[in-house]
Amino acid sequence: MSDPFFQISQLESGYGEIQVLWGIDLTVNEGEIVCLIGSNGAGKTTLLRTISGLMSPTAGSIKIEGRVIAGADARLALTSGVAHVPEGRRLFRTMSVKDNLLMGAYIRKAPGDVEDDLERVMTMFPRLAERANQDASTLSGGEQQMCAIGRGIMSRPKLLMIDELSLGLAPRAVELLSETLIEINKSGIAILLVEQDVMTALDLAHRGYVIDRGRITFAASSEELRQEPAVREAYIGAA
Ligand SMILES: Nc1ncnc2c1ncn2[C@@H]1O[C@H](COP(=O)(O)OP(=O)(O)OP(=O)(O)O)[C@@H](O)[C@H]1O
Ligand SMILES: [Mg+2]
Repeated sequence: MSDPFFQISQLESGYGEIQVLWGIDLTVNEGEIVCLIGSNGAGKTTLLRTISGLMSPTAGSIKIEGRVIAGADARLALTSGVAHVPEGRRLFRTMSVKDNLLMGAYIRKAPGDVEDDLERVMTMFPRLAERANQDASTLSGGEQQMCAIGRGIMSRPKLLMIDELSLGLAPRAVELLSETLIEINKSGIAILLVEQDVMTALDLAHRGYVIDRGRITFAASSEELRQEPAVREAYIGAA
């Protein structure tokens, strides 16, 4: 059998002496939206940071299309097709929306079609087109998230990872972002979504994983996770 598109096996990671992730197995198939849910401090951000090479795993492997990307090499992860939209969005506040988007393309080998991609992102998010020359700091929360996702798309990823899509946003903004994420996914980009709001996560994703204190405790289709009593009780607030 061929390797899954994206595969994490027995991954361990942490901060110095403090181990946060224990034996993580997770896959994303081509064309999938997969969510990762779990409470505060469960290790979601640590997992995304380890995947994108901002942290070095202490054990295990991370592969995209069979190619190993783990090992604290953010450039390798990015050039291998993994884009990370970080928790808190982390835009360059005093740079324009357009320049923030262009930062996402800086690592690309063929710069020729950057303008085309910029146009594509602006079409995806018309609000960004209207605000292209505004400083990123003047955007609303929802627009900032659009800009952060757009910046991720500008690296032409195969896998887009988003840490906390909906945090601090109004329901309408989340709806708009969700619709665009579905379009992005349909254009051939797989998505790994970290999300506190479990209903939003399960509505968007095909499959999901639950992480608890650094270990995966459930892995199933979104439908099954929604029905799972332990998941309902712990994360949805209804048994
Ligand atoms: N820089 C750091 N140094 C030491 N420990 C850290 C550091 N960053 C995070 N941790 C610890 O790692 C664990 C996992 O944190 P992480 O940020 O990955 O959780 P999370 O699931 O993303 O939580 P949240 O939902 O609050 O964003 C926590 O116990 C946290 O205190
Ligand atoms: Mg986090």
